[in-house]
Amino acid sequence: MVLDQDQVKPLAPANERALSPTMVDQYAAGSFYRRRRRSVLCVGCCLSTLVIVGVVVLVLALTVFKIKDPELTLNSITIDNLNLDPLTSNSLVSVNATLRTDVSIKNPNHASFRFGNSTTNFYYEGDTVGVAYAPSGKASAQRTLRMNVTVDVLIDQVASDSRLRRDLVNGAVNLTSYTELGGRVSVLGIVKKHIDIALNCSMTMDLSLTHQDINTNDCHARVH
Ligand SMILES: *[C@@H]1O[C@H](CO)[C@@H](O)[C@H](O)[C@H]1NC(C)=O
Ligand SMILES: *[C@@H]1O[C@H](CO)[C@@H](O)[C@H](O)[C@H]1NC(C)=O
Ligand SMILES: *[C@@H]1O[C@H](CO)[C@@H](O)[C@H](O)[C@H]1NC(C)=O
Ligand SMILES: *[C@@H]1O[C@H](CO)[C@@H](O)[C@H](O)[C@H]1NC(C)=O
Ligand SMILES: *[C@@H]1O[C@H](CO)[C@@H](O)[C@H](O)[C@H]1NC(C)=O
Repeated sequence: MVLDQDQVKPLAPANERALSPTMVDQYAAGSFYRRRRRSVLCVGCCLSTLVIVGVVVLVLALTVFKIKDPELTLNSITIDNLNLDPLTSNSLVSVNATLRTDVSIKNPNHASFRFGNSTTNFYYEGDTVGVAYAPSGKASAQRTLRMNVTVDVLIDQVASDSRLRRDLVNGAVNLTSYTELGGRVSVLGIVKKHIDIALNCSMTMDLSLTHQDINTNDCHARVH
């Protein structure tokens, strides 16, 4: 019993005394929580900054830095010069013609597309009848570059073909063309891509018309 009393007695002061360590604990805990809240905030800030940076990088990667394929189109052919002589005889036909082709390069990228020399070959029944050389150049960002390229028809090879003589007399010649062009898109020097474009078209040249549009459905482009 005595022992109990002795034990009970110090309990009260001990409880009183216990308050201050608890307060200290609470105080300490408070500053701990404040510190912890601060570091949680800091981690949160870092994470949201990372997320924002990630989203910005993703958006840039999907827009500005995403390199799309430029589009090469053969729009039209104009006959600047056509001499057929003699047209109706059975002897060799001398063909002297200059064609002007209107070509456009559409660049959908946010950086310019620089391309090198290109050649366009025109074929009649698989034989080359004309070659056009286009100079190197640059299609600005999100612009379409139009170029006139002249073609001199190769006279000798054309004249010896009897089917061609018949077609010339009839006034319609079927030709196919093949263009190869290589270039490069570089976005701020960070993302670079080399692009080769091959374009083939088939067309019916109506010799009574000086200007004829090319149907894009008769063209096939291959980009790699
Ligand atoms: C082709 O025609 C042009 C203009 O008519 C002429 O200047 C040129 O000498 C001709 N060329 C040939 C090989 O006949
Ligand atoms: C472009 O073509 C010309 C003439 O064929 C040639 O001299 C030049 O080296 C070519 N340039 C390139 C970059 O291929
Ligand atoms: C191409 O030729 C046509 C007809 O002469 C002209 O109107 C046009 O401006 C030329 N285009 C270019 C890019 O030189
Ligand atoms: C040219 O091609 C068209 C369609 O491919 C064909 O209908 C036509 O007969 C051809 N013309 C000649 C002269 O070969
Ligand atoms: C163009 O190329 C495509 C695919 O490479 C081919 O199927 C087509 O026959 C070609 N057309 C001409 C006119 O060469």
